Amino acid sequence: KKTVRDIEVSGRTVIVRCDFNVPMQDGAITDDIRITSAMPTIKYLIEKGAKVILMSHLGRPEGTADMKYTLNPVAERLGQLLNKDICFISTPEVVNEEVKEKAGSLKAGEVMLLENVRFRKEETKNGTEFSKELAGLADIFVNDAFGTAHRAHSSTAGIADYLPAVSGFLIEKEVQFLGNAVENPERPFVAIMGGAKVGDKILVIENLLKKVDTLIIGGGMAYTFFKAKGYEIGTSILDAENVGLAAELLKKADSMGVKLLLPVDIKVAKEFANDSVAAYCDMDQIPAGMMGLDIGPKTQKLFAEEVRSAKTVVWNGPVGVFEMPNFAEGTIAVARALSECGGITVIGGGDSAAAVEQFGLADKMTHISTGGGASLEFLEGKILPGIACLQEK
Ligand code: 3PG
Repeated sequence: KKTVRDIEVSGRTVIVRCDFNVPMQDGAITDDIRITSAMPTIKYLIEKGAKVILMSHLGRPEGTADMKYTLNPVAERLGQLLNKDICFISTPEVVNEEVKEKAGSLKAGEVMLLENVRFRKEETKNGTEFSKELAGLADIFVNDAFGTAHRAHSSTAGIADYLPAVSGFLIEKEVQFLGNAVENPERPFVAIMGGAKVGDKILVIENLLKKVDTLIIGGGMAYTFFKAKGYEIGTSILDAENVGLAAELLKKADSMGVKLLLPVDIKVAKEFANDSVAAYCDMDQIPAGMMGLDIGPKTQKLFAEEVRSAKTVVWNGPVGVFEMPNFAEGTIAVARALSECGGITVIGGGDSAAAVEQFGLADKMTHISTGGGASLEFLEGKILPGIACLQEK
C-alpha cells in the first residue's frame, strides 16, 4: 500500500484518521500509547509543511454527543506532545461551518482535531454524506488508525472513496510486523493463545495452525480443551458451546503436525478472587468445586522453554487472571520468556499488551500492536477495510 512517503503533502490539507480510543478514568487519559504511536505520522506531516486535520472516535457514544466521550482530553495531550496549539472545535455535528472555515484557513504545520466522529450516527454506518463531509475538509486522506482498521466506517474507509488515500507510519509498521510474523516467520514459530473464551479465538487458532510450528494454549480457554479431552475441570470457566470445536482443533493440530501445548499443571482456587486460598494441581486432578486461575510452575517452565528457543513468537491473550496478583505468575513467566527470547516477539494487542506494560517489559518486545480486535482479525487472515481502501503502490 502507498504511505505518506509516496504522496506530496507539502502545503496540502491532510486529514488523518487516528485511533485515539484511549482508556480514560474520570476524564483523564490513563494510557496514551495510542496517541504517542501516532506521533511519527503527525510529526512527519508537520515537518513537511502539511496542514493537518486529525480525527478519531473515543468509546461508543452511538451517534449522540455524550460529552463523556469528548476528545478534549486528547486535544490537550496532543498539544503537550507536539508542543503546539491544537485547534479543537467541539461540536455534535463534528463538521460544521466553523470547522470548515478553520480547516480552510489552516497554515502549513498547523494542526486541528475534530470532535469524536462517533458523535454522528452516520459514522459507524459508513454513511456516504458524512464521508463526503469529512473528505470535503482536505486534499488527502491518511489512515493511521490500525486499532480501528477492522471497522468499515465513514472516517476509516468511506472517506477513501473521495480522496487519494494512503497509510500512515503506524499502519505500515503494524502490517509489517504482524504480517511478517505470520506470513514469513523465522522458524521455529511459536504462537501463544490465551484469554477466556475459545469462541473469540477460533478463527485465529485455525489460521495460525497453518503457519506455526508450536501452538501454546493457556488461559481460560484451556479448560474448554481439557473438557474436550475428557478431564474434570471443577468450576473452571467453560465455553460449553465450543467443546466440540476444541476437540476438532486438537485433531487438526495433530494431523497438521503442529505441536500443541496445553498446561500440565495449574493454580486453582475456590473463588474468583485474589485472596481466595489457592493450591497447585496437575491438570487432570482439578478438585470438584475449585477453578483454575493460572498455570502452575511445571507449565511455566514448559512454556518458557518453548518460547525462549523460538525465532518468532506471537502472543495473544494472558495465560492466567493476571489482574489479580496471586494469579499473575504464569503470565509474568510467559512475558519474561518473551523478553529473553532472541527472536522476533510480537504482542497482539489487548490484554497481553496491557500485561507486558504492567510488568515493565514493553521495551523488550519487538512489536506491541495497538490493535485489540483489529490485530485479532489481522491474525485471522482477514482483510481489514481500513487498509483495503488505501491506494496500491
Ligand atoms: C479498539 O479499541 O479496539 C478500537 O478502538 C475499536 O473500537 P470499537 O470496538 O468500539 O470499534
